[in-house]
Amino acid sequence: ISMLDTACLGIKIKYVQEVGSTQTLAAELVKKGAEEGTVVIAEQQTEGRGRLGRKWFSPAGTGIWMSLILKPQIPLQFIHQLTLLISVAVCRVLKRMLNIDVGIKWPNDLYVGGKKVCGILLESSAEDERLKHVIAGIGISVNLKQEDIPEELKDKMTSLYVETGEQINREELFVLLFKELEELYHIYLSEGFAPIRILWEALAICLDCPIQVHTHQGTIQGRAYGMDEMGALMITDEEGNEHKIYSGDVSLNLV
Ligand code: BTN
Repeated sequence: ISMLDTACLGIKIKYVQEVGSTQTLAAELVKKGAEEGTVVIAEQQTEGRGRLGRKWFSPAGTGIWMSLILKPQIPLQFIHQLTLLISVAVCRVLKRMLNIDVGIKWPNDLYVGGKKVCGILLESSAEDERLKHVIAGIGISVNLKQEDIPEELKDKMTSLYVETGEQINREELFVLLFKELEELYHIYLSEGFAPIRILWEALAICLDCPIQVHTHQGTIQGRAYGMDEMGALMITDEEGNEHKIYSGDVSLNLV
């Protein structure tokens, strides 16, 4: 990837044709002492992983399937802020590069026209409540054709190609993405979450519309009205009670 001009993120790139999951390969590299900014990219994943134990469809040559190793000096409870940061970075780059109407469905899915185009999965290890490392998995469906999307996923997922009608240069997208990731990561480490929160709110698609959030404690039905300074989604339920949600899964009633 010749045009990459970041100082830290992407300094080492491990590129493979095929792998079970780039997350697993990145975890092995961490064990061998890989430094922050190392990234694993695969043309194809045979066991791509999604959140909540789901599978991630990652056919050959059609997407960006990658795992980025980060070692921020932050408390474990801040980890979801990194997820939000990454979703903001991907969203901003897609908007700028392709001029498409893409938004973030909390916490970290990117949607175009009601269908998912990118997912983010963070896996981490911690010691004494402090993060040791994070493996940030990013999956973007780039040049997948409509007919290649499995029947059962057709109403849930889309690709950048399907949405724009154009083949997208994955290398160019990768370079822009790393530039943006590095900028936002730097801002986050020096200024904290506040600037990221403002960017996130401007890109969110689930604010002020009816939603259902599934959490460990059960399902909340209501309206999300913003994000607090820690990165929790703030919701008013149907009885008017307020909730702050740090992790869970959101269904939008409108899609
Ligand atoms: C989700 O939305 O459920 C998260 C999907 C994350 C997919 C990416 S693709 C690269 C990395 N390797 C994996 O096995 N998963 C992540």
